[in-house]
Amino acid sequence: MRARDTDWEGVRLHVVTGKGGTGKTTVAAALALALASAGGRVLLMEVEGRQGIAQLFDTPPLPYEERKVAVAPGTPATPGGDVYALAADPESALIEYLEMFYNLRHTGRTLTRLGLVDFVTTIAPGLRDVLLTGKAVEATRRRVKGRHLYDAVVMDAPPTGRIGRFLNVATEVSGLAKVGPIRGHADTVQGVIRSPQTAVHFVTVLEEMPVQETLDGLAELHGLAGGGLQLGAVIINMVRPAGLADGQLVTAARGELDVHELALGLKAAGIDGSLGQGGGSDVAAALATELGEHSLEVLSQREHRRMLADTGQPCYELPLITDGMDLAGLYRLAEALQDQGAA
Ligand SMILES: Nc1ncnc2c1ncn2[C@@H]1O[C@H](COP(=O)(O)OP(=O)(O)O)[C@@H](O)[C@H]1O
Ligand SMILES: [Mg+2]
Repeated sequence: MRARDTDWEGVRLHVVTGKGGTGKTTVAAALALALASAGGRVLLMEVEGRQGIAQLFDTPPLPYEERKVAVAPGTPATPGGDVYALAADPESALIEYLEMFYNLRHTGRTLTRLGLVDFVTTIAPGLRDVLLTGKAVEATRRRVKGRHLYDAVVMDAPPTGRIGRFLNVATEVSGLAKVGPIRGHADTVQGVIRSPQTAVHFVTVLEEMPVQETLDGLAELHGLAGGGLQLGAVIINMVRPAGLADGQLVTAARGELDVHELALGLKAAGIDGSLGQGGGSDVAAALATELGEHSLEVLSQREHRRMLADTGQPCYELPLITDGMDLAGLYRLAEALQDQGAA
C-alpha cells in the first residue's frame, strides 16, 4: 500500500452515521472505495438488515458472510484494492459468538430453533448492539499470518438519533453482565471503539433538520469523547453548485433582479417571452421568482455550512449526482472524498 496523507491516519474502523435519507449508506460505500483505492482490502459493513449495500452494488442480497463487491478505482501505478461487504445481523452474530467463545458448534442452531436468540436479543437491546459493534471490532482486529486482513472497516451505522447508545457499549451491557466472557468481550469492543483506531463520521445535507441532528449528535458524542471516542468528519452530501455569483445571489434573494435585463438576456439566448408592460416578460418574471427562491436557499445553505464548520470537525463536500447512482457515481464520490483528504 502506498503511504498517503489523510486526515485519518491510524483510523482502521470508520463509523458512518447521519440522519436517515441523507445518504449514509451511499457515503459509507464511497468511503470504502476511497480507502481501498490505495490498494489493500476494505470491509464495508451494514448492521440494520436493509440490504442497502447489495442494492447499491447491484448484487444479490448479502448473506452473513464477507463477499467481494467491488474493485476500487486505482491508477496504473497503484491498482485499486478490493471492497468486501457484510450484512451483519445480531442473531447471526450471537450464534457466531457462541460458537467462537464456547465452541458450541450446534448450539446456535438449536437456540435459533427454540427462538431463544430472538428472546435474548429482544430483552437485552444493549446486547444486540454489542454483538454488532463486536462484529465490526472483530473484523478490524482480525489477522491472517500476522497481518491485518482488512486495512480498514467502514460501518454503515444506525442513524444519528441512536448512535450514542449504539456506541456506548460498556454502559449498555454493564447491567447485563458484571463478569464473565460477555463482560470481557464488551470491554474489548469498548476499548477499540474508544481508541484512536476508530472515528465516527456524520453524513448530512445542507438543510435545517439534518444539520441540527448533526450538531446534536456531535454534542452527544462529544460527551462520550471524554472516554476516548474520536469524532470524525462532517460529510456534506448532495451539494449543488450555486449557479450565481455572490452579488447576484443577494440581489436575487431580495427580489431585486432587473426583470427587463433578464428578458433581454433571455431574448439574446433565443428564449423569447413576449415583452410586457414593464419591458419585462412573463418568462423573465417567473425566472426572477425562481432565482429569488434558489438564492434564498443557497444563502441558507451557506449559513448551515458555516454552523457545521464551526464545530471544528473536518468538513467534506460531495456533489449531487444527477445521472443516477451507479458504480460510476460512487467512484466520483470516492474520488471527491480522497481529494479532500478523507482517504
Ligand atoms: N451524492 C448523491 N447524489 C445523488 N443521489 C444521492 C447521493 N447520495 C445519496 N443519494 C441517493 O439518495 C437516496 C438515499 O441514499 P442512502 O444512501 O440510501 O441514504 P441513507 O442510507 O441515509 O438512508 C438514494 O436513492 C441514493 O442513491
Ligand atoms: Mg441506509
